[in-house]
Amino acid sequence: MTSPSLITTPFGATSTADDVLGGVDLTGTRAVVTGASSGLGRETARALASVGAEVTMAVRNIAAGNEVAAEIARSTGRARPRVEHLDLADPSSVAAFVKEWTGPLDLLINNAGLVTGGLERTPEGWELQFATNHLGHFALATRLRPALAAAAASARGGARIVALSSTAHMRANIDFDDIHFDRRAYDPQIAYAQAKTANALFAVEASRLWEADGIVANAVNPGGIATGLQRNFTAQQKQSLEAAEAAGLFTYKTIAQGAATTMVAAVSPEFAHVGARYLDDGREAYTVPNDATLSDNPPRRQGMGARPGGGRTALARQPRNARRLRPRSIRPGAPQTKTTDFRGGCRCETRFATHNATIPVVSVDGGGPQLRSRRAVRPEGSR
Ligand SMILES: NC(=O)c1ccc[n+]([C@@H]2O[C@H](COP(=O)([O-])OP(=O)(O)OC[C@H]3O[C@@H](n4cnc5c(N)ncnc54)[C@H](OP(=O)(O)O)[C@@H]3O)[C@@H](O)[C@H]2O)c1
Repeated sequence: MTSPSLITTPFGATSTADDVLGGVDLTGTRAVVTGASSGLGRETARALASVGAEVTMAVRNIAAGNEVAAEIARSTGRARPRVEHLDLADPSSVAAFVKEWTGPLDLLINNAGLVTGGLERTPEGWELQFATNHLGHFALATRLRPALAAAAASARGGARIVALSSTAHMRANIDFDDIHFDRRAYDPQIAYAQAKTANALFAVEASRLWEADGIVANAVNPGGIATGLQRNFTAQQKQSLEAAEAAGLFTYKTIAQGAATTMVAAVSPEFAHVGARYLDDGREAYTVPNDATLSDNPPRRQGMGARPGGGRTALARQPRNARRLRPRSIRPGAPQTKTTDFRGGCRCETRFATHNATIPVVSVDGGGPQLRSRRAVRPEGSR
């Protein structure tokens, strides 16, 4: 397989959102940031507003959103962001948000996400992590497509979508036979991983479908950042995380650093008309085998000095996988009629049995304890 060469930028693991926005003027640019009342979304909204973007914070907690918006206006001296209600797990809320939207939209930052501690379902019966992280954002982007296309057709040219994925995606492909855990045992970490794979695949499919409209979508891994996302972690997960950090397997980023890769996808010229990519540490990430683990470190092994955990699995970039997900995103509860797996695909239940387990590793955002593999990985350009 021939892959395009990886896109790099001047930014890296320690860059902050403000570093990326240095010298950038987003006056006249309209942005929606989901989950902007806390964590990375809050910083993303602040950073975009600080350089003149007209920001709408799409949040489910209006009171918290209003507080953050006021603080953003105070700290940046810029216009106060709009605060609008959006519950991504509720299709009627997504529809209501879009109904209220008028005019073009230059930037859609699909940032909101959650990790659950156990099986939770929406009233439709959809597994909550998949419904929130993927289905809600899929519906939002699809409904906002005309607004994005309108912005792309304007003088500025081009509209961008940024989808927050995670290294946790490496733990699971989409289980097309049982997306919502109706028949398999529930594992919240596998459910989160499946949802984050869906986020990466969304960028692939949206770019394919909407490129002609001037809309590109890219996925990002923000890195490991201490935010509200870890609130549902079990004591065991927290301990594993501490052990992994002590072993030097990952380094926490600050929230400002965590929002930097989102900014690269949102404003950097390198990604202006390029979609379907997956970014990590401010650059396009390597593709790693489907059974690579969180502690694999292809960039560092290639002499690039990046921290562990980077990389997108081959399945999370595969156009066929992305196309297959789309009907299940439009009709989330529809049964899967085609059960053929892809060549190279792996089922999360069996995947780790092939590894030499040595060190348990946990992902900061719920990837969960994972077995360390010493499997060699290839840089993207080599395949
Ligand atoms: N932190 C990490 O280490 C890490 C690593 C990799 C990827 N990520 C990804 O980064 C993104 C941001 O996470 P974060 O770390 O900033 O976590 P966070 O502080 O918990 O922020 C997540 C945001 O999503 C919102 N949200 C949750 N469910 C929602 C729903 N149904 N509708 C609308 N909004 C909803 C939350 O709103 P409430 O405040 O109302 O709950 C919150 O504002 C997520 O997509 C996450 O998967 C994070």
